Amino acid sequence: MAAPEQAIEALLLEHRVFPPTEEFRARAHVTDTGVYERARRDPEAYWAEWARELEWFEPWSQVLEWRPPHAKWFVGGKLNAAYNCLDRHLKGPRRNKAALIWEGEPGDERVYTYWDLHREVSRFANVLKSLGVRRGDRVAIYLPMIPEAAIAMLACARIGAVHSVVFGGFSAESLRDRILDAEARVLVTADGGFRRGRPVALKEAADVALRETPTIRHVVVVKRGGGLDVPVRMMEGRDHWYHDLMAEASAQCPAEAMDAEDLLYILYTSGTTGRPKGIVHTTGGYMTQVHATTKWVFDLHEEDLYWCTADVGWVTGHSYIVYGPLSCGASVLMYEGAPDWPDRGRFWRLIEKYGVTIFYTAPTAIRAFMRWGTDWPARFDLSTLRLLGSVGEPINPEAWVWYHEHIGHGRCPIVDTWWQTETGAIMITPLPGVVPTKPGSATIPFPGIQAEVLNNEGQKVRSGFLAIPAPWPSMLRTIWGDDERYRQTYWSKWPDIYFPGDGAKIDDDGDFWLLGRVDDVLNVAGHRIGTMEVESALVDHPAVAEAAVVGRADELKGQAIAAFVTVKEGVEPTDTLRKELRQHVAEKIGAIARPDDILFAADLPKTRSGKIMRRLLRDIAEGRALGDTTTLADPAVVARLKSEYEEKEG
Ligand code: PRX
Repeated sequence: MAAPEQAIEALLLEHRVFPPTEEFRARAHVTDTGVYERARRDPEAYWAEWARELEWFEPWSQVLEWRPPHAKWFVGGKLNAAYNCLDRHLKGPRRNKAALIWEGEPGDERVYTYWDLHREVSRFANVLKSLGVRRGDRVAIYLPMIPEAAIAMLACARIGAVHSVVFGGFSAESLRDRILDAEARVLVTADGGFRRGRPVALKEAADVALRETPTIRHVVVVKRGGGLDVPVRMMEGRDHWYHDLMAEASAQCPAEAMDAEDLLYILYTSGTTGRPKGIVHTTGGYMTQVHATTKWVFDLHEEDLYWCTADVGWVTGHSYIVYGPLSCGASVLMYEGAPDWPDRGRFWRLIEKYGVTIFYTAPTAIRAFMRWGTDWPARFDLSTLRLLGSVGEPINPEAWVWYHEHIGHGRCPIVDTWWQTETGAIMITPLPGVVPTKPGSATIPFPGIQAEVLNNEGQKVRSGFLAIPAPWPSMLRTIWGDDERYRQTYWSKWPDIYFPGDGAKIDDDGDFWLLGRVDDVLNVAGHRIGTMEVESALVDHPAVAEAAVVGRADELKGQAIAAFVTVKEGVEPTDTLRKELRQHVAEKIGAIARPDDILFAADLPKTRSGKIMRRLLRDIAEGRALGDTTTLADPAVVARLKSEYEEKEG
């Protein structure tokens, strides 16, 4: 909700165009725009061609069955996601190729070849079976960025269990809610991990969640190692050490033949209510589109070393650390920790040390690098890089150009990729060998994908809401346990057209400019947070009567969280309380949701029907002149708030 009018103005001033260089085109997979036309003429034949790049145990009988809003792709086909990420690479020269090169924050290293990874995944699949996990059962994964996260995900896929990965930065309560919603039987966690030099005690948080998760029968605990020293309590009969179970497990475990529409995973994401949504992804269509986009968007070649800096706890980690790159047989770099530990050169040192060729990160990180100065990247040899990517939030043209100059040295194309947890894979992006890029624009839909900009009435406009008018292979299939919410959230704005919740503009060349969320979802440093979730966490505190949360534009994080809080009668609104409330939200949800500003308000601006006027609160938080206040029950409330906010900021 970063003031769309301002964002549009800034973007309209951006006219620079960067065509693909001859050097890049010479080796690119796609150098001919004909693919777009071919995909448009017959999207089903085009996607079927991609699906045939995977290995299927049984062929499909129909490419697409579309009964809006439900799609089935590759109907009747049988395959296994882990088999496609591992087994099929063992037959040829990739067998001893590095699949995963991992570096921990303290500097410890591990390398898994495809063969190694296959063995570890098969072992862990047998471990899960020995704990009673069957096809269709849910397994919760709450791990730091260590190889075991990928191993656990692929082990679930191998036996047809459904994983639900919960980002390690989420609180015990968030973990509990996600376990309960998915009715997970097993939890895979670790003693802890490292973040900015400090241990993060995951098992301790998991223990708090586990007090209220009766569905969990077994907990597998990975010992992080690398000098980590956090105390762990193991509950007899329930908790098991990963290394103990793995030592006894066989490395032979056949991959289950899954139906194309069998669930691969559930991943929770924030929506406009207090309750996160379990986004459901299935196997055949998802694997097809993550495979296709990884290969073409990142122009992935056999000898590349690919690094995506996301956490496996988010969809970017699922699709572009694990399933996409491994299905392509790539070498993937995985890094556990922070970009500024032990110093601000850490990322560039990793690129130099391992010879990274493809680097995929988020605008928030790029803006932080900008702030840290060009000296840091300049100290390292970044000459192996040949392609850069951006994801998660709109990238401002300044950050784009800085990235292009100081990281890509003017040589590397930048792919700004728009997509969502719900879309499963990249939807709007340049193909780096053919599409000229513009700083701030994600350019055009991937071949085989359609996108439009519509107004509320569903008419095509230049500036309005992004809309996806046709089903795509990796689309979410539903919301776990709540199909009605699926219909309401995504398919009720226009008939049979998907509504992603983003504002967008289309320019004279037909390029898309994504302008941020238009619903009550925030994007803070590329992390999706629901305003209602933060409000519920605040109201949960005994001192709070009412709370309203909005996003305000932030130079570094894209959006920051501003909370307006009214306290209960008799409670003193002090600085100590403000700190306590911020901490309370961090404990309820996770540190990423901690409000940046808390303003104590005697009243919140409401319409006569009692609805909180968020638009006005955003105006206040962003220091704008107040818009129309005539519909308010008490216009004086908002004027008072505005002066209080300015006083606090001043
Ligand atoms: O608002 C869009 C923004 O991130 C939202 C999706 O968030 P999430 O499901 O957490 O997935 C993030 C990683 C794919 C979108 O609704 N977004 C994502 N990529 C871009 C973007 N906004 C602008 N440009 C992008 N490239």
